[in-house]
Amino acid sequence: MLYEDIEKVLISEDEIGQKVRELGRAISEDYAGENLVLVSVLRGAVLFIADLIRVISIPLTIDFMAISSYGPSTETSGVVKVIKDLEENIVGKHVLIVEDIIDTGLTLNYLIKNLKSREPASLDVCVLLDKSARRIVYNLPIKYKGFDIPDVFVVGYGLDYQQKYRNLPFVGILKRFVYEMG
Ligand code: IMP
Ligand code: MG
Repeated sequence: MLYEDIEKVLISEDEIGQKVRELGRAISEDYAGENLVLVSVLRGAVLFIADLIRVISIPLTIDFMAISSYGPSTETSGVVKVIKDLEENIVGKHVLIVEDIIDTGLTLNYLIKNLKSREPASLDVCVLLDKSARRIVYNLPIKYKGFDIPDVFVVGYGLDYQQKYRNLPFVGILKRFVYEMG
């Protein structure tokens, strides 16, 4: 069982649900009457965006990007390559990037630079988890944040370890032996 690899549940399914509803309400108010596009990065943020859009009460569109980062798999280098680009034009639109987690901030920093050059009306970020202890890039336009988390590696609710554990309904910390097995 997947659950047996989890040391501790950091954020429960209920806590996530409650927070997502709060974020949805705030976004619905702030972007009322605007042309809103939610942009998400595959694959980790898929669960978050799927739940989030169902609690946003204003019209919106969604679009996806896929990026790959070079360098060792556990650390982000910030050197990323777009594997799948947006399908829609975002010129003059209000773009909100929906991300699962911000760690060093390098990935998001790249994404913001990339999207800003396409001249959206506004560009902001909605992130579920903020691991700010490891931040390298500051001044990211984080408009909405779910939870601050400590410097621990988490899985579940879209987040993976070697592509596993994304389907856990909560955010949890893995048992040590899972890493030690590699
Ligand atoms: P950053 O560029 O260092 O901010 O890295 C962001 C990306 O690293 C996220 O989108 C995740 O894919 C991955 N990541 C960072 N921390 C974790 C974690 O604790 N669990 C799972 N993935 C993580
Ligand atoms: Mg991600």
